[in-house]
Amino acid sequence: MSHVAVLPGDGIGPEVAAQAIRVLDALGIAHSEHAFGGNAILSQGTPLPDDTLAACRAADAVLLAAVGLPELEGRPVRPEQGLLGLRKELGVYANLRPARGDGVDMMIVRELVGGLYFGAKGVREDGTWFDTCEYSRPEVERIARRGFEIARARGGRLTSVDKVNVMHTSRLWRDVVTALGEDDYPDVPLDHALVDSFAMTIVQAPQTIDVVLTENTFGDILSDVAAAVTGGLGLAASASLGDAGPGLFEPVHGSAPQIAGRGIANPAAMLRSVALLLAYGLGRPTEAAALERAVADALEAAPTPDIGGTATTAAFGDAVLRALDATPTL
Ligand code: NAD
Ligand code: IPM
Ligand code: MN
Repeated sequence: MSHVAVLPGDGIGPEVAAQAIRVLDALGIAHSEHAFGGNAILSQGTPLPDDTLAACRAADAVLLAAVGLPELEGRPVRPEQGLLGLRKELGVYANLRPARGDGVDMMIVRELVGGLYFGAKGVREDGTWFDTCEYSRPEVERIARRGFEIARARGGRLTSVDKVNVMHTSRLWRDVVTALGEDDYPDVPLDHALVDSFAMTIVQAPQTIDVVLTENTFGDILSDVAAAVTGGLGLAASASLGDAGPGLFEPVHGSAPQIAGRGIANPAAMLRSVALLLAYGLGRPTEAAALERAVADALEAAPTPDIGGTATTAAFGDAVLRALDATPTL
């Protein structure tokens, strides 16, 4: 029997996680909750406690809502470090961020455990602060392979996004992607784009985009842009996968401190992350599809304020559960 480790996190995290837990219960999937992020810093002094990491490793899949507490900003230990640590520990280097709607069907494949986020950083003796962007050939190759596989599986094409006109690591990126395409994926159409103008393409012509392959920092920024042109952060889900072990499933959005505690956060991104968890994490595609449909129904029946409605987080969850109940195949 499968088991999901749930990390509700901070801010609106526990509010949207509560709706995800209702869905897991409705589908008869076992789960447990664990301290993570800002709340774990406050209670245990660390954003990723050992027992939380152990529970995540032992689970079949990990479901994270969001971390981040404004009162901890500027402190040496931050909630976000726990998230980076968890991604690294689980080896989930491939972050899949779909963005769909209005003729748009794009899939951003973001490298998740390298680049600027994990390179050397610090303060030099002269007082200069630095972060370094580093990528090795195998790190680029494994994420590029994921991108090509995803593009091939959907009969689509791959756009690799870099900053080859400025960044050294982008030269490695472009060379590796080009060579892999020629050697192993000659059937998958490949093109390259520079990240600045590609951000504009996402805004102006998102319908022309299929599968996007990019490094960690660019993928972080571009996925919020893609979310914005397809209904907003309240809708955007993601799956983070490695080669083995549990995947990590999380909305693209953060802890949204401005709206936390008001019961109005949109749980759609979280529930779509549960759908990705069902499909990619537990191998339950029928339930994943039913949940996707139930969320689509709820977006019509009970939209939350961020998408122009008045429904509460719980009312959206009610609508999802009603639609799931009405699904004959479950
Ligand atoms: P954010 O994603 O939390 O919020 C950006 C905007 O989107 C805000 O206006 C917010 O109200 C809105 N929003 C986000 N999710 C929503 C939802 N489900 N329903 C309705 N509206 C929603 O980004 P931010 O404000 O830049 O960051 C806040 C904190 O979250 C920071 O501490 C940041 O580090 C953290 N963060 C965490 C994650 C994560 O845990 N995966 C992701 C991004 C940001
Ligand atoms: C995301 C978030 C994280 C990231 C932060 C909170 C570490 O913004 O998942 O998009 O930058 O990867
Ligand atoms: Mn982000």
